Amino acid sequence: MTQQPINVLLAGSELTPLAKAGGLGDVLGSLPKALQKNVNKSWVAIPWYQEIRRKQLRQLKKLGVISITVGGSKTKITVWESRLPNSTVPLLLFENKKYFGRGTIYQGNTVYDPLTKKNATSKIGQRIRFMAFSFAVYTAIKEFSLPISVIHAQDYHSAPLLALVHNDPEMAHIKRVITLHNLGIVAATPHKYLEAFEWDAKKIFGSEFNRKKGPRLIRLGIDHAQAIVAVSPRYAKEVLTKEYGNGLESVLKKRKKDLYGVLNGIDTELFNPSKDAFIKKNYTVSTVRKNKAINKLALQKEVGLPQRKDVPMFSLVSRLTSQKGLDLLTPLLPKLAQLDIQFVLEGTGPSSLTAPFHAAQKQWPDKFYFHNIFNAPFAQRIYASSDIFLMPSKFEPCGLGQIIAMRYGTVPIARATGGLKNTVFEKTNGFVFTTYSSAALWRTIQRSLAAYAVPKTWGRLQRNGMKTDFSWKTSAGEYIKIYNNLLQNTHG
Ligand code: GLC
Repeated sequence: MTQQPINVLLAGSELTPLAKAGGLGDVLGSLPKALQKNVNKSWVAIPWYQEIRRKQLRQLKKLGVISITVGGSKTKITVWESRLPNSTVPLLLFENKKYFGRGTIYQGNTVYDPLTKKNATSKIGQRIRFMAFSFAVYTAIKEFSLPISVIHAQDYHSAPLLALVHNDPEMAHIKRVITLHNLGIVAATPHKYLEAFEWDAKKIFGSEFNRKKGPRLIRLGIDHAQAIVAVSPRYAKEVLTKEYGNGLESVLKKRKKDLYGVLNGIDTELFNPSKDAFIKKNYTVSTVRKNKAINKLALQKEVGLPQRKDVPMFSLVSRLTSQKGLDLLTPLLPKLAQLDIQFVLEGTGPSSLTAPFHAAQKQWPDKFYFHNIFNAPFAQRIYASSDIFLMPSKFEPCGLGQIIAMRYGTVPIARATGGLKNTVFEKTNGFVFTTYSSAALWRTIQRSLAAYAVPKTWGRLQRNGMKTDFSWKTSAGEYIKIYNNLLQNTHG
């Protein structure tokens, strides 16, 4: 059968390095580049947030102005084309101050509420922002006749886009895929906000529209996608269970034949200890031991910890949310402070979760350092300098921190859930625990310290991690197979 061209457009809420809050940004910033190597063309679309600076955008050109109808009035959106940084992938940016251009990515309370005509409340604002985004992308494809053959939505933020495309007979040739990065957020939305947009919300949502607590935007993506991809093989199984499915397990079970698990890759050019320009001393698998120590001394100096290369340094780089298992870690902080270790942490989150770390830093300034801002270069220095990376997640669809850590010869401690279970293996490249408890985490920390004390064992763990291919090569191939299967099935 002759191969149809793949022209895939990935739409989502984040994109590294322009607008990142977590791993989703890394995926949207790297997968399209890997796809571009194989598919005829890949595109990526995001809202133009306030934090995206014009000077970051290469070959910027205006595609035109479109309008969408919200709350009964027409809103103009300017569509720009640029390039995904360090690539030839076309990047579409959607500019509209009221809906996209104020506050940070998920700061919903800066978004205009078309019903109250004031700023929205936090959650509602996020829903309005991404509904508007979905409508904008749909309208742009139509108005500019973009030659798209596959739409690939990411999480709930672009899920409504799949419903719009599916309901438009002119777009019947376009195949529809959704990747589930995190079913923790299903985006239940009050009915009146769904009806505020110019579409037949009742018809498009079907029975879901009657859901009392508000129809879930993610459900639109699931119902209107022809292929549903979870970000790791393990997560693809977990979403079918009550524990992880977040109320969507039975819907997903019915779609089992369309459900795939594809492990995320990372940008191995960006995360590369032998080239990383943000770290003190570059290294490879044969120089990791010597040079990691040099990086450690430099980081200790940078953050004011005692400069000692022999001390085991723990690290954690993450969005600080309850998903990440911080409630297992915080009760252990006083016990950790008794050990001869150091601990460097970077991430942002609500004050209920950050407070214990601020307190630990204050009480034990020689042991803890907490960087309560997300800064990518600093994160890279942590990966390059520390020895043991903590990821005690309650659930973890894929997890990129453990993968980046291994690339930098930092040995992960992970809970056996989701993508962590697919990537971290006890005493091969890391340490794993199953029971969600502080006691289990503590025992695993002890095991890691015992191994750290034996240089030969430690070197083997580091090498096994560093030598694994975590690039997008294999996984991009799996996505291409999924796209091709859909394109060859013309009845979809
Ligand atoms: C979400 C998930 C994380 C995953 C990332 C990218 O942030 O919580 O596990 O790695 O998306 O898919």
